[in-house]
Amino acid sequence: MNAITLPTPTDLTITPRDRRFGRDSATPRLWHGGRVEATAIYNALSSTFPIGEAYFVESVRAFRAGTPPKLNEEIKAFTTQEVIHSREHDAFNKRATDAGYDLTKLEARVEQRMAIARARAPIANVAATMALEHFTAILAHQLLANPRHLEGADPEAAALWRWHSCEEIEHKGVAYDTWLWATRDWPRFKRWKVKAKIMLYVTRNFLVDRTGGALELMRQDGVTGFRAWRLLLTYLWVRPAMFRKIAGAWFKYFLPGFHPWNEDDRHLLAAYDAGAKGAPEPKRKVRRAA
Ligand SMILES: [Fe+2]
Ligand SMILES: [Fe+2]
Repeated sequence: MNAITLPTPTDLTITPRDRRFGRDSATPRLWHGGRVEATAIYNALSSTFPIGEAYFVESVRAFRAGTPPKLNEEIKAFTTQEVIHSREHDAFNKRATDAGYDLTKLEARVEQRMAIARARAPIANVAATMALEHFTAILAHQLLANPRHLEGADPEAAALWRWHSCEEIEHKGVAYDTWLWATRDWPRFKRWKVKAKIMLYVTRNFLVDRTGGALELMRQDGVTGFRAWRLLLTYLWVRPAMFRKIAGAWFKYFLPGFHPWNEDDRHLLAAYDAGAKGAPEPKRKVRRAA
């Protein structure tokens, strides 16, 4: 069976934006508005990207041969984008290290997760990638749609996160379409069951590991115990509440007929690209568009 409809918009072109951030000056240690918990959670996320994104690329590319031409091209562009993201987050992580943070424990944790994942079947790795790409896409949407998340952040660091978010939205259908293609002969229920099970597994690890990673970095800033938990959980779940605000989009993953492009949020890309071309920062415009 070869005929399959992939729901990614036919007029979507994935365009890598090869940009560099923060090379000319040091990033302040508490780059996120001087806030320990805000800096910690973004640094914890960033510490996972170079290792994690290499894994995403490897997982998807294992199924590239024989895919329809459009998907084949998209996998190529996805690869380019993720490789450049890794380069920029690697540089960002080095700046965090220069500022005095030790990311080795966080990176070791990701390596450990990847080793467990790589021992599994290639299709399970595509399913894990698809789940994590859904995570990054809904985080990215929230980050671009709601300027509060980067309020007070160092401008170069904020620019890095906006750029990454934009490209995560742009390629959000690639791992999903690769999965649809690779499992095209599977019964529907089996597809749903594997997809749902792996999403639950990945979500648990994501929440545990990123929270643990952020707490470790806060400890390095001398914030520990109840105070650290209170600051971090308030930041993630109460205000600006990134995790709470993506909960609805996370649930949609389990609905029949889900596809990342059921939510067409290309207006966020258009606003980002308009802002990046030298027009005024798209903050206000994006706030209304959301
Ligand atoms: Fe990325
Ligand atoms: Fe991605």
